[in-house]
Amino acid sequence: MKNAPNGVGIKEQPPEPNPDEQAKQSLSKIKNKIIVMSGKGGVGKSSVSVNLAISMAEKGFDVGLMDVDIHGPDIPRMLGLTGMMAANANKKLDPMRFSDRLTAVSIESLMTNKDDAVIWRGPMKHGAIRQFVGDVEWGNLDYLIIDSPPGTGDEPLTVAQLIPDARAIIVTTPQEVALADVRKSINFCKTVKIEILGLVENMSSYICPHCGEAVDLFGSGGGERTALLAGLKLLGRIPFDPNIVKCGDAGISYQEQYADAPATRVFGEIASQISCAT
Ligand SMILES: Nc1ncnc2c1ncn2[C@@H]1O[C@H](COP(=O)(O)OP(=O)(O)O)[C@@H](O)[C@H]1O
Ligand SMILES: [Mg+2]
Ligand SMILES: [Zn+2]
Repeated sequence: MKNAPNGVGIKEQPPEPNPDEQAKQSLSKIKNKIIVMSGKGGVGKSSVSVNLAISMAEKGFDVGLMDVDIHGPDIPRMLGLTGMMAANANKKLDPMRFSDRLTAVSIESLMTNKDDAVIWRGPMKHGAIRQFVGDVEWGNLDYLIIDSPPGTGDEPLTVAQLIPDARAIIVTTPQEVALADVRKSINFCKTVKIEILGLVENMSSYICPHCGEAVDLFGSGGGERTALLAGLKLLGRIPFDPNIVKCGDAGISYQEQYADAPATRVFGEIASQISCAT
């Protein structure tokens, strides 16, 4: 308290918090940060992010899922989170809660009209992502999993700048075209000095529900070849399963619904490998 000349106490205003400092403070409570990326859209980044987050939470880790796909946020729908984020007593935003151990943040949870298109340029996206980190009360986390849009644009770049200790998982499908894009993601990570934990090959094969035979829809072995060529670890090959689409669209946990499915086993194995490597 300062005394004004007339003797009336004037409360000193606390200085405006510095957004970079706030982001740093949030990050200091998060042990591991993992960005899921790919050169191409539709390869399954969001599905992998969601299922990995669920697997890690299942293993007893406290997990946050941050959706930095500003133009195409998919995480709330995939997790069946329909509410809005609201400010708490500390003037921070509480993340959306999926389960005891899994929370999530997305631009969609800040929009009153979910169908509004977000038309933002680079600096605004940078600011939004910094807020996702600094203005959200993540609390103590073992893992923050970051779902990004395809390519190597503003969003992954912001993550790389804001979270220098983030590590990457690159998702691909087995086709040659998809693998050409992987090489771009690998080069991006090299340029911004993000360590790559490994490659995930998604939609590797389709297991015939009638005879159990594995059918390679998009070729085979591509992920293995690229991993080998790039000196990366292949973390797993997730089979194609139409139930992943169904559950993602319905906002329910695929792994809970299909606990014995081959893809559930692979998600668990990838989560184990990551927890060993981090
Ligand atoms: N292993 C899989 N088997 C079947 N469908 C999948 C699989 N992985 C993802 N999908 C589906 O493919 C579509 C694109 O996946 P998504 O995770 O949104 O990709 P991205 O985030 O890379 O754009 C979604 O409809 C999703 O349900
Ligand atoms: Mg996505
Ligand atoms: Zn068959």
